[in-house]
Amino acid sequence: MARWPGRQCTVCENDGFIRAPHGPSGRLLAIMRPRVLSGMRPTGALHLGHYHGALKNWVRMQDDYDCFYFVADWHALTTHYEEREVMERYVYDMVVDWIAAGLDPERSTIFIQSRIAEHAELFTLLAMGTPLGWLERVPTYKDQIEKLKDRDLATYGFLGYPLLQAADILIYKAAYVPVGEDQASHVELTREVARRFNHLYGRHKDFEAQVATALAKLGREDVRYFERQRKAYGETGSAEALAKGEALVRRVAASTGWTADDSETLAGHLRGSGRTILPEPQALHTEVTKLPGLDGAKMSKSYGNAIAMREDPAEVRRKIERMPTDPARVRRSDPGNPEVCPVYAFHRIYTDSATRDWVVKGCTSAGIGCLECKQPLVDAVLAEQQPWRERAEPYLREPKKVHWIVEMGTERARTVARQTMRDVREAMGLSYG
Ligand code: TRP
Ligand code: SF4
Repeated sequence: MARWPGRQCTVCENDGFIRAPHGPSGRLLAIMRPRVLSGMRPTGALHLGHYHGALKNWVRMQDDYDCFYFVADWHALTTHYEEREVMERYVYDMVVDWIAAGLDPERSTIFIQSRIAEHAELFTLLAMGTPLGWLERVPTYKDQIEKLKDRDLATYGFLGYPLLQAADILIYKAAYVPVGEDQASHVELTREVARRFNHLYGRHKDFEAQVATALAKLGREDVRYFERQRKAYGETGSAEALAKGEALVRRVAASTGWTADDSETLAGHLRGSGRTILPEPQALHTEVTKLPGLDGAKMSKSYGNAIAMREDPAEVRRKIERMPTDPARVRRSDPGNPEVCPVYAFHRIYTDSATRDWVVKGCTSAGIGCLECKQPLVDAVLAEQQPWRERAEPYLREPKKVHWIVEMGTERARTVARQTMRDVREAMGLSYG
């Protein structure tokens, strides 16, 4: 049974638990699946930290959401604008890693940001009304400039990149954005940008006429009921009145020839907020696993403490066997402390509690050696990687296959992006003739 939080079935109005396929055509309606969107920068082969920290979650979400995942190559350029070869090398490599991890191109829309110029168009249009202070105040802005001291990030692109991210999200009208804590402020900015956009452009001169058109499709009783709820909500802010009005919109939408526009118009009318052209997304902080690097610091290719997802097995063994351990455990006969050992941090993620008990007992009593302690990890990591290697193999043999997948996904994404841009241009008064 699938659960789509925050959504109601448009047919039976249940609470988001879809018990059996239903709907006019006997299949689940696509609109019942909220859209999820996320992107990743192509800055190197993905490693185990990427898998446990993000990718594993992306794979899981395919069951419940309409997933859009893209290669954020423009985002990578905001910091790596001097290194064009980085991009060329890693874009398709990263998509292979995604597929290896279990992203299914049939269910997920996989594409490349720079192939869809509409992202840049929306970015430009949103930029017009976005106060500079909103971008300067994004916490990652000053943090990153501090952290990446060796790069010149006093650029217009780097300041604007959270707004580019807002455009990435809003152009697909995504309901949820799975991001780590570090990116939460970007989703917050996206929400503010959307709110401002809808406020500025959702009440253009035709809005009243659209409301009248939509209301004309309702029966007289329904109009009276709807207007009563709208008034009550406007005057008292009653959540009950809002819910009743929204329920009516949903019921009518499901049973008549209403367009999505009609529903949106009336929903905006009900709330007094105008039409929602760009819906506000929500950050989705699902449980992720933080896998540290081989030395206990954050896993990162640039620190040289990473194991790539498709690392050669002999290299995996070598890297784990060379992992630093509790520095106090100099000789085999010295007892160690797993709590301060990077190897034990890996055990927490990769092995079962019986093995961990064996480690704790053996380590603190000097009963096992460090090399011995590492063997179950070598086995577990190799076992985890095995299906990745198998899934990647056909794509490495025939790289064209990856290109086709990206081609297909890009076309799918473009259809959605184009539709949004039509709405946006119209709302901003840019659809001449
Ligand atoms: N900024 C994100 C990162 O650096 C990548 C990204 C770009 C993204 N656009 C996005 C993530 C939209 C989620 C949604 O990791
Ligand atoms: Fe670390 Fe294991 Fe050695 Fe203990 S026995 S110090 S946990 S590697």
